[in-house]
Amino acid sequence: MGKITNALQKAAEDRLNRMDKIAKIKETKQLIVRKEGTSNIDPRIVTYYDTKALISEQYKILRTNLMSLGTKKQLKTIVVTSSIHSEGKTVSSLNLAISLAQAVNNPKVLVVDCDLRRGRMAKYLGIKNEIGFSEYLKGEAELSDIIFKIDIENLNIISSGKIPENPSELLSSKAMTDFLADVKSQFDFVIIDTPPIISVTDSGIIGAQSDGVLMVIQAGRTQRGIVRRAEELLEQAQANVLGHILTNIQYHLPEYIYRYL
Ligand SMILES: Nc1ncnc2c1ncn2[C@@H]1O[C@H](COP(=O)(O)OP(=O)(O)O)[C@@H](O)[C@H]1O
Ligand SMILES: [Mg+2]
Repeated sequence: MGKITNALQKAAEDRLNRMDKIAKIKETKQLIVRKEGTSNIDPRIVTYYDTKALISEQYKILRTNLMSLGTKKQLKTIVVTSSIHSEGKTVSSLNLAISLAQAVNNPKVLVVDCDLRRGRMAKYLGIKNEIGFSEYLKGEAELSDIIFKIDIENLNIISSGKIPENPSELLSSKAMTDFLADVKSQFDFVIIDTPPIISVTDSGIIGAQSDGVLMVIQAGRTQRGIVRRAEELLEQAQANVLGHILTNIQYHLPEYIYRYL
């Protein structure tokens, strides 16, 4: 993890501690700040804890860009992928989904963990992953059984579920196509977290059936050639690459300069 991430994580943890204290004080007065005073949500999901943090502002910019792109062409189902593992797909998917759910017009947002092999979304949210998307695709669960809520209005979450034997087959099945059509009519935005494109074909398959793809690139780690190869694979799959999310960027100014209080 880069220096900036460590710093951001530390700042988020401090904020979390402060929030816990506030929650405790308020609880004694029978007021609820957050549904869970001691939240299990990972501090890296900064948009949940602090809407004014530098990183939250960056996700707001991404949200604005997506919303303005969406006025020209329908942009409801958005795949988040990357070339290789651990570039920040899941953290970015969750932060983007939360940021969208916090927009003034209250869009209905769904975030889905389609990384059926190494799904980490439930872990970041501190929730159980016993039932989720793989159970739905296998026909063992209904949509209403797998949608999870946290205390952010308009935000709906689907975790990956148990690791299935045949993830690629499930993700290219009719159940997946039907799912995408179904959620498109029910939600304003569907953010789809996927595995890295270089290792498996899943993101290409889903990307081709979605309105757009966002590629996460970890600055200073992922080599240019690998990113180019990943883009080629997405192009071959006929996916519509909307743009990139750069993670691990070193900022040269301290965080407070970026804050709009
Ligand atoms: N914007 C960011 N800047 C720096 N590091 C990040 C950022 N987003 C995520 N990370 C870090 O990258 C690591 C992997 O994140 P994760 O979202 O689980 O990756 P992936 O889903 O691509 O495998 C985590 O330790 C996380 O803290
Ligand atoms: Mg992930």
